[in-house]
Amino acid sequence: MFILDNKGRQPLHDKIYNQIKNQILSGQLPPATKLLSIKNLSAELSVSRNTVEYAYQQLYAEGYIHSKPRSGYYVSLIDPEFLPSSFSHIGMTPRKVSEDRIVYSFDFHPACLSSESFPTNLWRKLYIESLQEDSEQLAFYSDQQGDFALRSEIQRYLAHSRGVSCDPEQIVICSGLQDSLSIIAPILKENHSTFAVEDPGHFMPKAVFRNHSFAINPIPVNSEGLDLESLQKTNSTVVYVTPSHQFPLGYVMPVANRLKLIDWAETVGGVIIEDDYDSELRYHGRPIPALQGLHPGANIVYVGTFSKVLSPALRVSYMVLPYRLLTIYRKLFSDYSTNVSLLDQRTLNKFMEKGNWERHLRKMRTIYKRKHDELIQSIHHHFGSKANIIGQGAGLHVVLELVGNSLTEGELINRARDRDVQLLPISGMYFNNTGRDPQIMLGFGRMSSNEIDRGIGLLYQAWNL
Ligand SMILES: Cc1ncc(COP(=O)(O)O)c(C=O)c1O
Repeated sequence: MFILDNKGRQPLHDKIYNQIKNQILSGQLPPATKLLSIKNLSAELSVSRNTVEYAYQQLYAEGYIHSKPRSGYYVSLIDPEFLPSSFSHIGMTPRKVSEDRIVYSFDFHPACLSSESFPTNLWRKLYIESLQEDSEQLAFYSDQQGDFALRSEIQRYLAHSRGVSCDPEQIVICSGLQDSLSIIAPILKENHSTFAVEDPGHFMPKAVFRNHSFAINPIPVNSEGLDLESLQKTNSTVVYVTPSHQFPLGYVMPVANRLKLIDWAETVGGVIIEDDYDSELRYHGRPIPALQGLHPGANIVYVGTFSKVLSPALRVSYMVLPYRLLTIYRKLFSDYSTNVSLLDQRTLNKFMEKGNWERHLRKMRTIYKRKHDELIQSIHHHFGSKANIIGQGAGLHVVLELVGNSLTEGELINRARDRDVQLLPISGMYFNNTGRDPQIMLGFGRMSSNEIDRGIGLLYQAWNL
C-alpha cells in the first residue's frame, strides 16, 4: 500500500521509488513479490504511467527489482550483508517463500538435481517394506548416532570408493552439513577458538562456527585449493576444506599439499574438517581418494552427503569422527537424539545393501557427465575467448569467468532474469569480493540438454558481450 502526499518539492516518481525501496529493504516486500503493473499502480495513485515507469526503471537499474518476460516486475533477492545497518533486521521478517517462488524456464542453480535423480518407485517399495518390517521400532527413539546397519553400509562404501578408513561406530548420521557442523563446533569449542575457512567458500561453515563464538579466518584459494602458506600464517587451529573439489571454484588439492595440511594439523594440535560433498561425481581422470584415508589416525572429521546424487530434500548425510573426538561427542551429546527419521534411514539402508546405490551412482554419473560435457561445449560455442571456465570435470556446476567485462554481478543476474534465466550470485561466497573479473556459477543438474544450450545462448545475448 503506497500513500502519496503532495507536500514538499520531491518529484512524485522519487516518492514512489523511495517507498518501494524502503518496503523492500525492510522486508515488507519480500524477494519474489510481484509488483503491481505500471497501469494498475498509476491508476491506484492517480498519477501518470510515465511517473510509475520512471520509478520502476530506477529500482530496476539499482537491482532492487527485476522483470520477467510477459509477467511483470518482481522484487529481487538482496544479500542481507549488503544492507544498511538500519535494515539489518530484514532477515527476521517472516517471508512467504513457497507460494511466491518464481519458476524460471532455465535454472542454473548449482545445487539442484533433475527429477530423474530420485528413484521414486523403488524408494516407495523399500519404504513400505521398512514400515512393515520395522513397525515395532517406530514405538521408540532410534539410535542417536544413526541406524547401525546403515552406518555399516556407509562404512563399506566409503572404504572402497573413497579410501576412508573407519569403523561404523565412528559414523554419525546427520541431516545435512549444518547439522554435522552444529555437532562438531561444540565438540571443538573445548580446545579451540579460531576457525579457518576457504575464501571463496561455502557460507554454512562460517555461519555455524561464528554462531558458536569462533573467530573466523578466511584463507585464500589458489589453483591447488586452500593456500597452505596463508593458513600457516594465521593462529587458526581448525580448518574446513573441500580438497577433492573446492567449493565453489572446483580446484583439486594435490596429494603433496594434503600431506602438508595433515602435517600442519599435527604440528598445531589442530583439526581438519574435510567436506567430500560431491566426490561421487568425477567425470574425467581417476577418482581422488579422500584426505582422511592418508592418515586415518589424524584429527580429521570427514563429512559426506546424499544430497548430490540422491536428493537434497531427503536431508541425510554423515560424518566420521576420529576416536579422539568421538569420546568428547559421547560426553556432550549423550542426551541428544538423532534428527533423521528412522524410516528414511532404514529405507536408505535397504537401498544400499541391495546394490541399488552403486547402480544409481553409475547412472547419475553418466547422466551428469553428459550434461557437464554439453555445458562446456555450449560455453565454448557461444562465448569463445570471452569467458574462462573454472572447475570443470566434476560436480554439478562450473564457474564462468567473463573476460574484461564491466557489468556488475547484479546487472549480469538481472539481465539473465529478464530472459527467464535463473542464476545464483557467487559474491556471497567471497570475503574479499573485489579486483577480479566477474564470475557466475552455472549449475547443470536440473537442466535438460536442450535447456543448457538455449540457456547459455540467452546469457550470451543478455550480456551483449
Ligand atoms: C560445499 C558443500 N558441502 C555440502 C553440501 C551438501 O549439504 P547438505 O548435506 O546439507 O545438503 C553442499 C551442497 O550444495 C555444498 O555445496
